[in-house]
Parts: sequence; C-alpha cells; structure tokens
Amino acid sequence: MTIDERFLETHAGSAALHAEAARLLPGGITHDIRHFEPFPIYVERAAGCRKWDVDGNEIIDFVMGHGALLYGHAHPLLVDAVTAQIQRGTHYGASHPGEVEWARLVVELVPSAEKVRFVGSGTEATMMAARLARSATGRTKLLKLREHFHGWNDSWGVELVTQPSGELVGLPRELAEVVTVVDQHDEAAIEAELATGEYAALICEPGGAHWGALPLEPAMLGAYRSMTESTGTLLIFDEVVTGFRASEHCYQGLTGVMPDLTTLAKIVAGGLPGGAVAGRAALLDQIAITPSAAPRPDGTRVLHPGTFNANPLTAAAGVAALRGLQDGAPVQAATAAGERLCRGWNEAIRSAEAPGAAYCQGSMVHLVLGEDVPPPGDGLGWNFAAAGRRLTTPRTRPAIEWPFRRALLSHGVDLMGMGALASAVHSDGDVDQAIEAFSGALGDLRRESIL
Ligand SMILES: Cc1ncc(COP(=O)(O)O)c(C=O)c1O
Repeated sequence: MTIDERFLETHAGSAALHAEAARLLPGGITHDIRHFEPFPIYVERAAGCRKWDVDGNEIIDFVMGHGALLYGHAHPLLVDAVTAQIQRGTHYGASHPGEVEWARLVVELVPSAEKVRFVGSGTEATMMAARLARSATGRTKLLKLREHFHGWNDSWGVELVTQPSGELVGLPRELAEVVTVVDQHDEAAIEAELATGEYAALICEPGGAHWGALPLEPAMLGAYRSMTESTGTLLIFDEVVTGFRASEHCYQGLTGVMPDLTTLAKIVAGGLPGGAVAGRAALLDQIAITPSAAPRPDGTRVLHPGTFNANPLTAAAGVAALRGLQDGAPVQAATAAGERLCRGWNEAIRSAEAPGAAYCQGSMVHLVLGEDVPPPGDGLGWNFAAAGRRLTTPRTRPAIEWPFRRALLSHGVDLMGMGALASAVHSDGDVDQAIEAFSGALGDLRRESIL
C-alpha cells in the first residue's frame, strides 16, 4: 500500500468531516497552520501526550496546543484548577484574587518583569507592546526581523500580508510603511536603521524565527541590546513560545540578556486563551489610570480594555501552570524529551542515508528533509560552524513535506509543521515510539523514491 492509499484508508472519517467543514469554514480550517493536504485529521479527545482522531487512530502529539501545553493534554493539575474555578464562575466583571496571584508569579519568574498586564492572546500582547513602546518613546516606526513571527496584528503582521509582488492584502500601505523588516544577523542594517532614531522598538523571537527554526546566533541578542540601548529604542522579546519553555525563567533567563518588554502567551495561560505583556514598571504604568502611578509626564495614558483580560478561568489555569513549573522540573522533562527526539531523528536519518537533519533548543525540535543540512553539534542546536548563518529558514520542499507528514501520521505521530514541541509528559517510551514511527515514515518515502 502506498503512503497516500494508507492515509486515505485510515482517515475516512476525517475526510468526510472536512468535506462538510469546507462548506462552512473558509478553507475548511480555523488556523492557517492547520492546513493539511489533502485534508486535516479531526481530533476528538486527548490525554497526556496522545490524541485520538475520529477514525480511532491514536497519535503521539508534538503540536501540544501550538506549544501551550507544557504539561500535555488534560493534566490533572490544570483540569482540577479549571474545574474548581468554573464552578465558582468564569467572569466576575471585577478584579479578583486570581489575577493578583497570576501577576505575582509572572513577576517572580520573568527576570525583566516588574509589572505585567494580561491580554487575550499573543497577538494582543505584541500589539500592546508596540503601543507601549510608541507611547514611551514618542516614535512611530517599528523594527522587526525577517520571518520572526509575532502574531497577525497590523503592527507586526506586515510581512505576512505582503505578497511576493509587494502587494499588501488587507493592510493599508501607510501602516506597512512604518514597519521595517531586516535580516536577523544583519548587524550593519539593524544598526543603520536604529541610528536614524526613528524606531520605537525592535522585536525578536529570542531563539530565532519560528521558535528557532531559523536559528539565531545567541550573541546577537547582546548586540540587539546594546544597539537599542544606545539609540533610545526599546527591545521587546517575544517569548510567546519560549516563555516558561526555554527555561522556567524564559529565554532571557538562559542568556541573561534583558529586554525592556516581554510578550507572553500559551504556557503563561496554562493552555487556555490568554497572554501578557511584562516589563519595566515605568513602561507598564503608561496603562495605569491612577494619577499616583504618573503614567506619562503630560498625564496622558495608554488605554486598555478587553473583555477577557485576566478572566478567572484563564487566571486559574495560569496560576496552576506557573506554580507547577517554578522548580524547573517540567521544563527539564520537556527538554530531555525534545533532546532525545532530536538525537533519535538524526540517528534515523543517518541510518536511512537520507539527506536532512534535526536540530533543537531543548523541547523545540526542527526537522529538514531532502536538503543538505549538516547534523547539529554537541548541544543539538544548529551547527553554525558547519552550516553557517541562514537568511531564511531551511525548509523541506512541499513535494517531500506532505507525503512525509501523511506517512508520519499513518505511523501515529503529529508534528507542528516540520517541528515538534515536546512536553513534560512525553516519556522515554513515547519518544522512542515516535522515533520508530519516524524511521517507518522515512522508509516509506525511500520506497516511493520521494526522498
Ligand atoms: C512567537 C509568537 N508570537 C506571537 C504569537 C501569536 O500568539 P497567538 O496565536 O496567541 O495570537 C505566536 C503564535 O504562535 C508566536 O509563536
């Protein structure tokens, strides 16, 4: 049986649901990354590191709620916290103790955080960070790094809406013109832009674009810090993925390079919808209404409504998640799982004599197949010495990616694009099973001369 025959045979229920979904939902999906060819799988329940689709297939999950689920699916820690809260009400339309405890944990765990504001998502967090930066500096322009993803708002989403022809879809040119995009390793270009003194902020994913798929030399963070400092520009670390995953103190805790503002979502909200902007008190206090907080010298302020900001349900999940990871154990377990997976995938690639490699930063693992990418160095990260700096993400061609992902799903493993987000509940046995599935998928591709 071919890869495609097997996929179609074992996913008939998903195919039928997708036919109905395509009538009702644009493209039949609800997030761009869930596009799958010829159709996505439909999942009906999940527990631990596994999920089950409507056809009864059991799948080891490395999507993990787009990285939100450090504790895996339906972890008792979070189920108990959310169940207890839902019985006490989900929205008081009032301040509540949970938000105070949630804020205390964020401020304790994120090294650069003196204050925090809760928002509804990562996209809202980066939108608010732009607004705080513009307000604090009195400057309009924003600097971002090519391919670094910060959600889909009008400030940072400009690259996403720009077509290869330069045409902008759904965004006025006036808004796009105030956001400049530069290559993450192009120190000279970044310096030249910042030297104009026109930029309110430089934002980055501190581990590199797409949670490190486009690897960033760690030394660049120090360069960003000194260039922004000397030009009066604010530095924003977007830790929506790396927050409480790279370490319990986020990516900044690993490197010691401190941003002015940090954007958070996913793990900070315990896997429920939510996000946060944290940073220096003087920056956050621009939102404050209390006159004593002296938001801005002229008495004006940055406004911030939002129905579901710090709602009790998300706050309960966030508190449980952050309390549980304070000792570092969940992050260490997820890191061990990610590194084991990365090592195993590279061994499988080597023994299949296939072109490609996997590289990782702890629990964030990336895979390239069909391209000449050298295996990672000792630390399992991108091998800068052998592979150099890349300007764009090394990518698996679609002609390989789709059959590979179909084959891998048929072997019982789901990835986030061509990457894996490991959790604290992926055991050695789960990871070994995922490595075996990967070897099986590689074998399928080799048999059909796809790889
Ligand atoms: C680094 C980064 N920033 C921002 C976002 C946007 O977050 P959300 O999807 O919660 O809007 C994401 C989402 O994956 C992300 O990876």
